[in-house]
Formats: sequence, C-alpha cells, structure tokens
Amino acid sequence: MDKFLIKGGTPLHGKIAISGAKNSALPCLAATLLSAKTVTLHNVPYVRDLITQRRLLEDLGATTLTPDVHTHKITAAHIESFEAPYELVKTMRASVLALGPLLGRFGKAKVSLPGGCAIGTRPIDLHLRAFEKLGAVVSLESGDVVAKAPKGRLVGSELDFEKVTVTGTENVMMAAVLAEGTTVIHNAACEPEIPDLADLLNKMGAKVSGAGTPKITIEGVEALGEAEHWIIPDRIETGTFIVAAAITNGELEITSCRPDHLGAVIDMLREVGVEIDQPDPTTLHVRNSNAGLRSKDITTEPYPLFPTDMQAQYMALMTQAEGTSVVTETIFENRFMHASELIRMGADIEIHGNQATVKGKVRLKGAPVLASDLRASASLVLAGLCAEGETLIDRVYHIDRGYETIVRKISSIGGNIERLKDHMSTAAPETSG
Ligand code: UD1
Repeated sequence: MDKFLIKGGTPLHGKIAISGAKNSALPCLAATLLSAKTVTLHNVPYVRDLITQRRLLEDLGATTLTPDVHTHKITAAHIESFEAPYELVKTMRASVLALGPLLGRFGKAKVSLPGGCAIGTRPIDLHLRAFEKLGAVVSLESGDVVAKAPKGRLVGSELDFEKVTVTGTENVMMAAVLAEGTTVIHNAACEPEIPDLADLLNKMGAKVSGAGTPKITIEGVEALGEAEHWIIPDRIETGTFIVAAAITNGELEITSCRPDHLGAVIDMLREVGVEIDQPDPTTLHVRNSNAGLRSKDITTEPYPLFPTDMQAQYMALMTQAEGTSVVTETIFENRFMHASELIRMGADIEIHGNQATVKGKVRLKGAPVLASDLRASASLVLAGLCAEGETLIDRVYHIDRGYETIVRKISSIGGNIERLKDHMSTAAPETSG
C-alpha cells in the first residue's frame, strides 16, 4: 500500500486548479446506462472511484472511450449484464448508482448490498423503498438486491424521502426518467451534484424540473438520446485547498471552482479568520488574516448547510485556532476516526457521541498515522502540512479514491509531500494529464 511522506511547516503559495466533482461524475457515468446513444462527459476527475465506475459500465457491456483522461465517451447500446458484483460494490459504495438506470431502462437490476463501511453502516433502504413506490419488486437474494419492474417498465409515483439522501435522490431520479407517467420526489437532496445530474439527464432528453430544490418532478419519456456534458468543479476539493492555505499560513489562488456551491463553508472559514476574496465567479484568493484563527462550532447538515465531507478538514484547522470549538456530526455515525490520528500528532480533541471538542491552538508534531476514509485522509494531509517534522500517512488509497493527483498538486504550490510507492499497488493516480 502506498504511503505519503510529508515534511510540514512550509506555507503553501501559488495557483491551484480544481478538478471535476467526483460525486457528480459518479452518477453522471451511471446515467449513461439510460441511453443506447453515446454520451460524452468532460471534466471527469482522474481518481480511482471513477476508474472503478467506468470498469463497472464496461462489465455491464457499455463501450467507453477516453480520448483524454478527463473525457469519457460512453455508449451503452449493448448491455448484456444487469448486475453490479460484490467485488466492485465493496470497494466503492457508489456502484449502487447502477440500480436506478438499469431498473429504469431494462426493468431489472441486481446489485450486491454494500457492506459495513468505515463511516457508518450506510444502508440503501431508502433507495429500495422508493423503487418499490415506482412499482418495482425488490428482494434480497444471497446478499444481492434484486429489483424488477413486473411489467418491464416502472410507473411514476409521488414519494417522500423520510431522510435526505444524496445518492438515493440520484438513483430515483435516474429510475424515473424512463417510467410511465410523472414522478414527484419530496424531501429530495439539494446538493449541487443533483442539478448537475438533472442537467445531463435533460440534455439526454429527460424531463426533470426542480432539481436543486426539495421537490423534483420527473415526467417519464420513452427513450433517451445522446448528449455532451461538463461535470461541475469539486466543491469539497475546493474547500480542502482553502483550508490548506489557511492551516499552512500560506496564500493560494484557487481557480476553476464554483464558490457559489460552498457558501456555508466559505462563510464559516471567513468567520474563523480566513481571508477569502472572490475576484471572479470561478476564482478565490485565500490567505490567513494577520489576527490568526478563532475557534467556532460547526454542525454538519445537508446542503446548503455545512457539509459532512468538510468536517474532518475543519477539525484539523480548529487545532490551529485560539479557543475551543465543538464539531457536531449529524449525517454519519462513526465519522471521527481522524480525531485519534490528529491526537497522535498532538491535537487536544475529546469525543462524546457525535460531538468532538477541539482545543487550540496546539503545535502539531509529525507522526506515523493511518488514513481511515477519504475525507479523514485529507485532514491528515492538512495536519501533516502544518506539523513540525515528518508525517507518514499509511493507507492513502482512500485519498486516491477522490482527490486527483494530490501529491502533484500540493507539490506545485510548495508543499513537501512525496508518495512512497508500494510496488504491488495497481493504479497510478499521480500520472494523469
Ligand atoms: C453522498 C456522498 C458523500 C457524502 C454524503 C452526504 C456520493 C457518492 N457520496 O453519500 O460523499 O458524505 O452524500 O452528503 O455522492 N441513509 C439511510 N438509508 C438510505 C440512504 C441513506 O439511512 O437508504 C442515511 C445514511 O446512513 C446517512 C444519511 O442517510 O446517515 C445521508 O446519506 P446519503 O445522503 O445517502 O449519503 P450518500 O449518498 O451515501
């Protein structure tokens, strides 16, 4: 397994361009299963989860062309399999996003039930209940979810998610675009990845309205066609680089981003003392104010409030702020595994249930640490960049799932980070264009 070796203490300076959003590209790739015609996706990030998602589409029978690493041309004309196998689902939970399109277009799908995951149990019961509302018969057979539309086609319906679910909303949207009649989703997730997927579906010929609000209406159509679509910039990568500038006392120009997609994060980081200017709609200038960082409490909530995917990075930042902050996680249980690693580096953090109390400001010291999930890994990289001495992060395959060429990007702005390659490991995520 590859490791990262970070020598901390160097302020990051320079310009960094944000990649396409992993969490948008994943459902958009799945959506290509809805059409027999070619769908071209641009700005797809070169990260391991997308490599896995493309493999899944190929296993199902789709042909994929990648004229460059960020462009995927996918044609799902001859789908021969309707099954996402356990080997793929266990490495990437987002493979469940194949369920909706397969069920919507072919009236049948089989997806291995995702197992327990590092950030909580993460069930898919809400996805399945919503498919049942659209007329599917869902059963569990030897660890696989098998869903069938008895008449071969789903039937539009009105449904209400009892809890906001991002991939659940996406899965149902994709299932409903080819259903007979109209579907209305209440309490839909509003994350920017949802309107991005709706944009693609509409370009393919679907009739989706209201995406980005809690009520989405989908008028079913007979078939979808070809389309070309640009994936939105990754808001969590953007937030991570804002914190990187702040935690290292550096100054960054962050380009190709969508600040309007991370309003709550930018507001909170300004409140704790990070200076953030927006010279144009896709650029941010970030630096620490001379007054230093102040502690502030945060609570993670569905969009447009503070995202759970920025909680770990914020916690790392709070170790460098004067005072005490309470970080409350309301979306996922067991999402504080980075805290014990930050404590190994000298942080003063106490966990009680879903609350972490962080006391700052402490001087972090480099240590060997273990990455436990994608965003936890990001917080350890951030802590390592500001710590005194060397930090060795093990199990960085987690970070390779979702951050494009992170070593190259951080090195280009002056960070001292190196990938120690395990020669047994496969993909080479740092070698993209
Ligand atoms: C997506 C994101 C992930 C982000 C999360 C919350 C992708 C690929 N991943 O994950 O990065 O952290 O949104 O913003 O887009 N739940 C159920 N039953 C279900 C579905 C969800 O109980 O059927 C619960 C979950 O356990 C969790 C909450 O609902 O407590 C929200 O989960 P959800 O929004 O579905 O997260 P994901 O879509 O898996």
